[in-house]
Amino acid sequence: MTHILETKAITKRFGGLVAVDSVDLQVSKGEIRGLIGPNGSGKSTLLNLISGVYPLDGGDIFLNGESVSKLSPHERAEKGIARTFQNNRLFPSLSILDNIMVGMHARTKSELHHTLFRHKMTKLEEESCRKKALDIMKFVGLKRGADYTAGALPHGERRLLEIARGLALEPQIILLDEPATGMNPAEKEWMIELTRNIRNTGITVILIEHNMRVVMEVCDRITVLNFGRKIAEGNPQEIQTNPEVIEAYLGEEEPEDVIAG
Ligand SMILES: Nc1ncnc2c1ncn2[C@@H]1O[C@H](COP(=O)(O)OP(=O)(O)O)[C@@H](O)[C@H]1O
Ligand SMILES: [Mg+2]
Repeated sequence: MTHILETKAITKRFGGLVAVDSVDLQVSKGEIRGLIGPNGSGKSTLLNLISGVYPLDGGDIFLNGESVSKLSPHERAEKGIARTFQNNRLFPSLSILDNIMVGMHARTKSELHHTLFRHKMTKLEEESCRKKALDIMKFVGLKRGADYTAGALPHGERRLLEIARGLALEPQIILLDEPATGMNPAEKEWMIELTRNIRNTGITVILIEHNMRVVMEVCDRITVLNFGRKIAEGNPQEIQTNPEVIEAYLGEEEPEDVIAG
């Protein structure tokens, strides 16, 4: 069976530091894959390699069996790899709706050609994009008016908007980098449900998340990084009982963070 996403020995160096060290991943279609590990273990860098933000120093990345290693981030987005960033990258002065519509546009051209794009759209196209964006807004649980300014949103809702923008691509796979960070408890609960809802529409999810309760509850399989290397992989129960993981990572967690987060 071909995996939707496969990495073979991918490596990224920053000077003398090996941030991602020969990592093999095999992600099945429809899976929610958790990516965990201590701070600085290479999680965000791994997503940056998959989405093409950084070029590889070694290895190869395959989407549905086809190498995407030489493609630009935009070309990978066109092929169906969407992502959110650990620090959000919305257009703060644009409305919620426009931020989502920019996401649709990322399929074809640079995000900054947004204004141009709007001029080129026919009324009918614009109406259909608008409707789609409104549906996505509802899907991620954004309840404000579509014209609300993105920059004025509270933190948790900004994270939802970022996810909405990723979903606007109609991706095959979405990479979520700590989406629940800074969310309040109710938003965190919703984030769990939303992650499942995303998967239930057929989109594969890779989720970086430091809250162990969330990870264990939502992920089908979990990959653990430490110092850029993959040290374990398995279902939540296997990970929770893996001695090397406990030693490297879980043992260090504050009990409060594990339970309440
Ligand atoms: N752009 C960069 N330039 C230099 N070093 C970086 C860069 N990005 C990440 N690193 C380093 O690579 C390592 C892995 O970082 P990162 O992938 O952000 O870890 P994580 O997301 O697991 O916390 C860290 O030591 C970090 O300081
Ligand atoms: Mg990170």
